[in-house]
Formats: sequence, C-alpha cells, structure tokens
Amino acid sequence: MIEAVSEEKKPIDNLDIGDAFNEEKDEEFCKLLESLYQKYGYDFRQYSEAHIKRRIRNRMTLSGIKDISEIQFKILNDEAFVIKLLHDLSITVTEMFRDPNFYKSLRENVIPLLKTYPFIKIWHAGCSTGQEAYSMAILLQEEGLYERSTLYATDFNQQVVNQAKEGIFSNVLIKEYTANYQVSGGKASFSDYYTSDDTNAIMNQSLKKNIVWANHNLVTDSVFAEVNMILCRNVLIYFNKDLQNKVHTLFYSSLVKGGILALGSKESLRFTDLNNKYVEADRKNRIYKKKY
Ligand SMILES: C[S@@+](CC[C@H](N)C(=O)[O-])C[C@H]1O[C@@H](n2cnc3c(N)ncnc32)[C@H](O)[C@@H]1O
Repeated sequence: MIEAVSEEKKPIDNLDIGDAFNEEKDEEFCKLLESLYQKYGYDFRQYSEAHIKRRIRNRMTLSGIKDISEIQFKILNDEAFVIKLLHDLSITVTEMFRDPNFYKSLRENVIPLLKTYPFIKIWHAGCSTGQEAYSMAILLQEEGLYERSTLYATDFNQQVVNQAKEGIFSNVLIKEYTANYQVSGGKASFSDYYTSDDTNAIMNQSLKKNIVWANHNLVTDSVFAEVNMILCRNVLIYFNKDLQNKVHTLFYSSLVKGGILALGSKESLRFTDLNNKYVEADRKNRIYKKKY
C-alpha cells in the first residue's frame, strides 16, 4: 500500500528531461512500470501512457533525476523515492459535492430507488480523501436513509484513506464546499455537518459511523462486496481501454441487478464491453442502471 509522503523539494525547472520518454525509450518506460509491479505489486502497466509519463517526468524534475536509467535505479533501490512516485501516480484531487448537478440528479433519480431497499450498500471506489463519501453521507441523512446504509469507501493509496478517516478539511475549502452543497439541492445548512476550529472543519461523527474505509486496488484486488450502488468518479479516466473493461467487469459482478453505477463527468460506459448491460439513468450526469 502507498504510505505517507515526506516534504517535496522545489521543482527544478532547468533540467532538460523533455525527451526522457521518446519513442525509442518506450521499452525502458515499460521496464520501469514492470519493476514497480514486480517489486512492489503496484500495477500501472495499463494506465493511460500519457498520464503516467507526465507524472514520472514531473517526479524526475522534482527529484533532480536526469535520465530514465537513474529513475530505474531509484525504483529498484530507494523505497522512500518509490513511495513519493506512487503518490504522484495517484491523482487525489477531489471536493465535497463535486459536480453539484450530479448530486441533484442522485436526489431526483436514484434516491427513490434506494428508498425501496431495506438495507443500502454503496461503494465509493477511488474515494481519495473522502469528500465524496461524506457528501453521500450528508445526502443520505437528509433523505432519511443513512441509518440503513453502509458506505464502503476504498482507495489504493493508504495515505488518503487515513486522511479520509479523519474527516478534517481546511477551512479554506469550506466556502467552495458550501456553494457546491447549495447547488446540489442541500436541504439544511452545510455548517450543520462539521465543527470548526481556527484552521479546520471536522466532519460530524454521525456522518462517519456507517462509513467503512479500506485499502483496495481496482487493478489487482477482487470484488469488494455486493452493493446497490457504485460511485467510481474521476478514476477510470487514468486507465487505458483494456483496464477500464477489466474494472467495469469487476463493478458489474459487484452490483445487484438494477443497481446503480455512477461515473465522473468525463467518463462513460459507451465504448466499453459492458455498455449493453446497463441502461442510462441520467446520461448527462453519467448515471447508469444495471439491467435486470
Ligand atoms: C481524482 S481522485 C477521485 C476522487 C473522487 N472519486 C472524486 O471524484 O472526487 C482518483 C482517486 O483514485 C485512486 N486510484 C487510482 N488508481 C486506483 C486503483 N488502481 N485502485 C484504487 N484507487 C485508485 C487515487 O488514489 C485517487 O485517490
């Protein structure tokens, strides 16, 4: 699992590593990903090549590494460096009520279905620092469904899972989160859901009690649980087509019949092998329903 990352050095701007991965060096790039997998079990071999190359180039700049053989050496011999690199490869940007219209649509189109279940299980795959799961917990509380719900929030980056469990977010972010909450159709005041000190907002314990946080790798781990709904938003965008198909197969086996799959605003089931196994519940907001 990816553990804590120490302080960054300032990026070094004047290093000429622009062609660290030109076409002839693709073989070395593959070897590098192979080493990460063989030595540490992290499999980035089917992530989008452009994304991985960009992140590795960035890490080379930050660490003053001039060529690909040097980074290969570090991968094989410097665990502290590998931890930083793994963290770089996991983009953790997230926010509370991200894409507020998506949550509005959940209220209108999905909550009525969830209300028909005696128990509700929801999987947040790639939950990052937890904002998506806390948003869902708030929504479920407002709809009177939280007490019969279990939220499984998973990520392969242990550092963000630890942060998510804490549920502590900088006060600087709260203005944006509050605006998102209001646009999403929030029924109360966002400030009802946290207590604040000078620097941070601490999410209410009542939101945390039915959330199970766990380390889970979508590439190498198997089905997590049988669930009524899966949210995997802004994760698959970093995977190539084959890997997207593999993960969608995992989601398909994890969902009950009639279960809901929610993707990110730039993601779609359209070109995947599983497309005809779902109907669109809300095309614009990337919400799909598994066929009966
Ligand atoms: C951009 S964040 C998305 C967070 C949240 N779902 C959202 O939309 O705001 C992507 C998350 O996916 C996680 N991730 C990437 N690859 C993964 C994998 N193979 N298994 C599990 N999580 C993964 C990253 O660690 C990161 O926290």
